[in-house]
Amino acid sequence: MQRPILAANWKMNHGPSDARAFMRTFLAHYARRQDRQVILFPPAVTVTTVLAALKDRPDIQVGVQNIYWEDKGAFTGELSAPMARDAGATLALIGHSERRHVFGETDAETARKVAAAVRAGLIPMLCVGEKLDERESGQTEAVVLRQLRAGIAEVEPHAVGGMLIAYEPVWAIGTGKTATPADASAVHAVIADALRSQVGERARSVPILYGGSVNRGNATALLSADGVDGLLVGGASLDAEGWTSIARA
Ligand code: PGA
Repeated sequence: MQRPILAANWKMNHGPSDARAFMRTFLAHYARRQDRQVILFPPAVTVTTVLAALKDRPDIQVGVQNIYWEDKGAFTGELSAPMARDAGATLALIGHSERRHVFGETDAETARKVAAAVRAGLIPMLCVGEKLDERESGQTEAVVLRQLRAGIAEVEPHAVGGMLIAYEPVWAIGTGKTATPADASAVHAVIADALRSQVGERARSVPILYGGSVNRGNATALLSADGVDGLLVGGASLDAEGWTSIARA
């Protein structure tokens, strides 16, 4: 396995003032480590604050939680990939389940966003995952593969090789219900196979993260599951001390 990736998705939490306090505590307790990669996804208005706190810590990367697919123009309230890149973000979450299920984002829209990120030199982290009724009716694989294939449809195979995928079962997000390491491994294997058949050996460089109610108690077990290359953490990443212990998992 490549070095594990520990990613924090703050969602709509931590404006600049909170983020400054968070970063003081986190950086005081998390020393640079060669054996893992830490990524923070703050809200867009907080990106430059977090980057300022990281000026002596290039080991930690910062991404945005969403982008729009046009580069600029009359799209009030939206954020483009080149603007995120210009602010210093290096990654973009795309197709997070809240984007899909709260804001109605479609597979076709995630594809355009992935393409826009790649064009701008942002690394896309494409999120996929089934809802509870889809899991219960045996459609997990079909849903995840549909989201995956659609999400990478507008980029070249070599660009897919530079992406990250996050498997986040919707029923596990923010619910306290976590997939077991075995559940996660099973879906990660399906994703890895599908990537191999789409882009061949380039799929080997694509880390597949698990997300959904990860916390400091279950992080180590999930991270040791077969095929789990990292964790994408929401609620449990908001507290700097809790996040520090997950980042060290
Ligand atoms: P959670 O969120 O850890 O709060 O379940 C994960 C995510 O939505 O990325």
